[in-house]
Amino acid sequence: MRMYDIIHKKREGGCLSSQEIAWLVDAVTRSTVPDYQISALLMAIFFQGMTPEETVELTVAMARSGDMADLSQIPGVKVDKHSTGGVGDKTSLIVGPIAAACGVKIAKMSGRGLGHTGGTVDKLESIPGVTMDIPRERFFQIVRDTGIAIVGQSGSLCPADKKLYALRDVTATVESLPLIAASIMSKKLASGADAILLDVKVGSGAFMKTQEEAQRLAQLMVDAGNQAGRRTAALITDMDTPLGACIGNALEVAEACEILQGRGDRRLAELCSQLAQAMICLAGLGDQGAAREMVQEAIRSGRAFHTLCRMVEAQGGDSGFLQDTGRLPKSAVCREAHMPEDGYIVGLDAESCGLAAMELGAGRETKESAIDYGAGIVLLKNKGDSGKKGEPLARLYANTQEQCARAEERLLSALRIGPNPPAARALVLRRIGV
Ligand code: URA
Repeated sequence: MRMYDIIHKKREGGCLSSQEIAWLVDAVTRSTVPDYQISALLMAIFFQGMTPEETVELTVAMARSGDMADLSQIPGVKVDKHSTGGVGDKTSLIVGPIAAACGVKIAKMSGRGLGHTGGTVDKLESIPGVTMDIPRERFFQIVRDTGIAIVGQSGSLCPADKKLYALRDVTATVESLPLIAASIMSKKLASGADAILLDVKVGSGAFMKTQEEAQRLAQLMVDAGNQAGRRTAALITDMDTPLGACIGNALEVAEACEILQGRGDRRLAELCSQLAQAMICLAGLGDQGAAREMVQEAIRSGRAFHTLCRMVEAQGGDSGFLQDTGRLPKSAVCREAHMPEDGYIVGLDAESCGLAAMELGAGRETKESAIDYGAGIVLLKNKGDSGKKGEPLARLYANTQEQCARAEERLLSALRIGPNPPAARALVLRRIGV
């Protein structure tokens, strides 16, 4: 087979065979074709697309390009959850312990944050002592004992995706639905869970800016997962405004603890409840009605919060930081931002809020950037709230006044104020397969 012929076929709108896709992924993994030919093919795929069959073939071949986790040593149904990324999205820290407290087994491999969206690994590492680098046997043991463990992605997971993603990033080919679907789902398949729940975010703070795009991506991923033999479902959820009140690693851990104890932002709590219910249904442990009851009971009884504490202890952390979240890292400087005029908040652009948190030091520009675990934003008002000029809007945490001043400017530019309350936007916009 020749790479030239594969590029030519796709450029002309042809459909690649499973043999061609398998050959291609092998060549990418072993670096036997040059980057310029892979880049040319990525651009051809970007313009010509892929059929659902090609997308499944690509997903499975990429999943098999490295280690495939075998979770059979963990009894029970293993369910994974993936969010396509958002601002203030700490749902894994909440949904995982709730679902585990209800009997779902969660052996999760998570990523770090990049750009304006955060990552679960960074959030957990903001708890002093927690390690995400855990040997396989110990990882399985923690899941058997507590129902949940969250570790960093192993370096040998999906090497083909690492290569392809790096090239997509520099060739303006990231925003291709089949390539995104194959990239995400290959990692989920290789992570070994029996069932997968996808939280596909839509809105200004998300990859997908329109509901139609999000729906197409969700359907592609659900089909790829199901055809690869994993029960897969998706919720399409709103990411126009930040999720919850906190953006920034340790701040989000503190907020997760609040929600797990039945307090905090009601919109975030409702989303987490719906995601946990979907995981319980996917695990076959109950229908929607029963799952809702189970979630409520896990929170009311304290078992969900206790599950997070046990996981943190098992991963080397001190759960005292969760019992008293005031002890979590906090940056040295705190500055309050205020309402610039009277009125209702009719818009609070999620992406700009994420960028403001990056200015504060909470995110990373490149994979190598250091992050400040204690930095971030606590929103004292969110979309739909009203206020008078000069009333507190948010608290900003960083290590310097300059960072706070730059972030305040960005935050205020994210704000739209109007005389009337905005129309309510549903949180879960669509469900697929659950
Ligand atoms: N996340 C991924 O892992 N891959 C993509 O292509 C986009 C988001």
